[in-house]
Amino acid sequence: MRAVSGGPASQTYAYLHCPRCLRPLKWEEAGQRCGDCPRTGASIDGIPVLGADPEAMVRDWGRQRTAFDEETRTTRDVVLAQIAGQAALGATTRARLQRLHERLERHRVQVGALFDAAGVARVEEPLSRDGRVPGEGVATAYFDQIHRDWGWDTPEPAAALEVVLDVIGDLRPERMLVLGAGACRLPYDLHRALGVQTTVAVDINPLPFFVARRVIAGEPVDLVEFPRCPRDSRSVAVDRTLRCEHPGADGFHLLFADGLEPPVPDGAFDLVFTPWFIDQVPKDLATLVPELGRVVAEGGAWLNHGPLLYQPSHTQPAHRYREDEVHEIAEANGFSMLRHRWDRLLYMESPAGSQGRTEGVSTFLVRKDRAVARADDDSPSWLRDPSIAVHRWPALDDYQPPHPMFAAVADLIDGQRSAEAIAEQMVTRFKLPAEAALGGVMTCLSEMWRARRSL
Ligand SMILES: C[S@@+](CC[C@H](N)C(=O)[O-])C[C@H]1O[C@@H](n2cnc3c(N)ncnc32)[C@H](O)[C@@H]1O
Repeated sequence: MRAVSGGPASQTYAYLHCPRCLRPLKWEEAGQRCGDCPRTGASIDGIPVLGADPEAMVRDWGRQRTAFDEETRTTRDVVLAQIAGQAALGATTRARLQRLHERLERHRVQVGALFDAAGVARVEEPLSRDGRVPGEGVATAYFDQIHRDWGWDTPEPAAALEVVLDVIGDLRPERMLVLGAGACRLPYDLHRALGVQTTVAVDINPLPFFVARRVIAGEPVDLVEFPRCPRDSRSVAVDRTLRCEHPGADGFHLLFADGLEPPVPDGAFDLVFTPWFIDQVPKDLATLVPELGRVVAEGGAWLNHGPLLYQPSHTQPAHRYREDEVHEIAEANGFSMLRHRWDRLLYMESPAGSQGRTEGVSTFLVRKDRAVARADDDSPSWLRDPSIAVHRWPALDDYQPPHPMFAAVADLIDGQRSAEAIAEQMVTRFKLPAEAALGGVMTCLSEMWRARRSL
């Protein structure tokens, strides 16, 4: 795993497991690998991608790159047409449009260079949501966060850190998991301020991580900012050099993975941090909190910081919980409240723009006192014990096998055979090596069972 700076990466593997078969990942020089699911291991820009189908995810990024490229060219052409078609333009207005035109091209090239360096090529296919992780916006949706985190001279990051440190009190976690880390400023500042040994920052969106990885390693990144509401004609496009004031802290790691099902073993962390995350994802918080409880050791804590805005497009009214309801959900899941506060914080006030707002932000720290049996832990007994008959479930008929071996296993599920019996069939009928058969079958079964959620 990419240690942004220092520290043997292999140590961090103790905190990760394969998202397909949930077994520990093995460390090899070439990158992270699951011995049982060879497709698990991918690495983009030196950052591990741990998803059920990393190739599909990176392909989607390639489509998004193409869409960004086309949109930027189209906007640039519109600006050019304005310059050419409006003879009566004043000199300053003409200069503004020319600047915009030139910087749009610069922006396209800069962003393209980040994708190129990461090995994400253009994919000439229409955008599709297939295989996209829930909650994930398009790859180019977070430029403002990137500039705020590493480009603006603004009090926002320091104010957020101050609030979070106040709520953290004297807690000093050694292992922190951050979900939806974005461009990583607050997680990185917190990692440094608390002296955390190992932080694993998880996100699903490529560009904020491509930038975070560089600036945290001490490499400045040039990126043009286009403020939504520029202050004056020169502010329509601002050349920025993004950099981190204190780069190179040990033990801060990036990971592309679904934060709704983090690929980490039970109880592997003593703090899970959700900065501006819980209301951004389509998952009902009442089902996300048990997952947070799973990854935190008993006595560990969950730290939240963010508004409760929720996206009307992908949440139901019943799931748009207010602060007191969120606290109740935490308590119902074995957490007890240590500290909480509510602040109105400045949000996204670009120094080059005339816009900005305040947002009510809920920050709380809850401690996990006890493990609670998960209502959504519906993993069947045959997935835990290979001698038990594997039943057929309704969605299995619609399952699209990614590989002929998965298709063969699906065909062999008849409600009578156990995983062991299926493995025997795979050896005799398909000449699977006997020593690999049961592991392979269990992997297929757990992947099929997981896939039922998206059917
Ligand atoms: C509102 S942004 C907040 C980013 C950052 N924490 C901050 O405060 O600037 C929400 C972040 O959650 C990430 N995200 C959304 N769904 C996710 C998922 N299922 N798994 C991991 N990250 C996700 C987005 O990519 C985005 O970076």
